[in-house]
Amino acid sequence: MAVNGGAAAPRSVTILGSTGSIGCNTLDLIARNRSDYRVEALTANTNVELLARQAVEFDASCAVVADETRYGELKEALSGTSVEAAAGEDALVEAALRPADWVMAAIVGAAGLRPTLSAIQRGVVVALANKECLVCAGDLVMDSVTKSGATLLPVDSEHNAIFQVFDFKQKSAVEKIILTASGGPFREYSLEQMAQVTPAQAVAHPNWDMGAKISVDSATMMNKGLEVIEAHHIFRVPEDQIDVLVHPQSVIHSMVAYVDGSVLAQLGTPDMRTPIAYTLAWPARIETPSERLNLGQISSLHFESPDPQKFPALRLAREALRAGGSKPTVLNAANEVAVAAFLSEQIGFLEIAAVVEETMDAVNDGPLRTIEDVFHLDEVARRQATSCLSTRR
Ligand SMILES: NC(=O)c1ccc[n+]([C@@H]2O[C@H](COP(=O)([O-])OP(=O)(O)OC[C@H]3O[C@@H](n4cnc5c(N)ncnc54)[C@H](OP(=O)(O)O)[C@@H]3O)[C@@H](O)[C@H]2O)c1
Repeated sequence: MAVNGGAAAPRSVTILGSTGSIGCNTLDLIARNRSDYRVEALTANTNVELLARQAVEFDASCAVVADETRYGELKEALSGTSVEAAAGEDALVEAALRPADWVMAAIVGAAGLRPTLSAIQRGVVVALANKECLVCAGDLVMDSVTKSGATLLPVDSEHNAIFQVFDFKQKSAVEKIILTASGGPFREYSLEQMAQVTPAQAVAHPNWDMGAKISVDSATMMNKGLEVIEAHHIFRVPEDQIDVLVHPQSVIHSMVAYVDGSVLAQLGTPDMRTPIAYTLAWPARIETPSERLNLGQISSLHFESPDPQKFPALRLAREALRAGGSKPTVLNAANEVAVAAFLSEQIGFLEIAAVVEETMDAVNDGPLRTIEDVFHLDEVARRQATSCLSTRR
């Protein structure tokens, strides 16, 4: 059975960030549907060993490691195979430009912006996991989608849920988007307890198995803030029509409320292979091994409002979105620096949002007309956030 939208030929795919949590889940689905997909390019940052293994297993045309110092290692690991090896940031862009019908954008952080934009500019189907792209350059990315005619399919479980129930033909009938949030591992902690948490505790998400950065973002709820900005760009809905509702079980992945009082939701067990499969086979659907939802067994669903005192990151992201211009770019860059500092035990958990806020107050740059403006501002904000860190050590 052809699952790739009913096409006869296999769909060619490139995975930017194949060695990460989203990348590995995508390859897991491809492994279950081998004859329907052909792997064009795979990329990683430093994990040459896994990248080479994936490239050989999936018979990829090319494998790229972003860290140029690892080129020799990659070349050696791929010697005797037909997989082309390349390294460096330009090679990442070249990987995105290779002729694949479908590209998974799953690099973490602003580092994914250039390759993701390159894939979009080719006008193909882009499955977007890398939400930071939309946070730091949302207008430019969405303009590029419009100009190229690319199809942007959201991978984030919340946006994927909204995508499935959003009436694009009657946008004016949409009253609200309701993003659900698990509340992360510290939802029931006091502020005093949160001040003491370790990186190991923060990356242990109660429902989802994810990369370190997004796990910390979930724990601070910055992840939900980034998702508010992401939803604003993908669905072109203003900030005050995007609500956040804490739902610790992660069964309802998000909802859309309509003017007639109807609320449409997408439900499922928390397994990223469900939203990834939706984008991989789009517009068809494929079977996944995700555990099936048994509402009778769950019996009741819990909801609550986010606590603004414990999770200031959500307010910061909303402020950045309302201010527009350079603020979301600064928010994202400062958050990346602060999360990395927390993970390397340079600052405490509650200081992550404090560093972001200080950086947002300090950096005020002009409008972002080009992608170079975004990278310049990203660098300025990172420098400022790093100097905020040094005053805290
Ligand atoms: N994981 C989830 O369930 C989930 C859900 C929704 C959205 N997302 C979003 O999806 C994206 C990926 O998340 P993840 O959890 O899969 O992250 P992850 O496990 O940390 O994987 C990140 C991937 O990006 C690569 N990478 C990291 N830094 C890079 C750089 N500077 N240049 C080029 N490649 C780089 C990594 O390579 P190495 O392995 O070599 O480091 C890896 O392949 C994030 O934007 C996240 O917010 C994730």
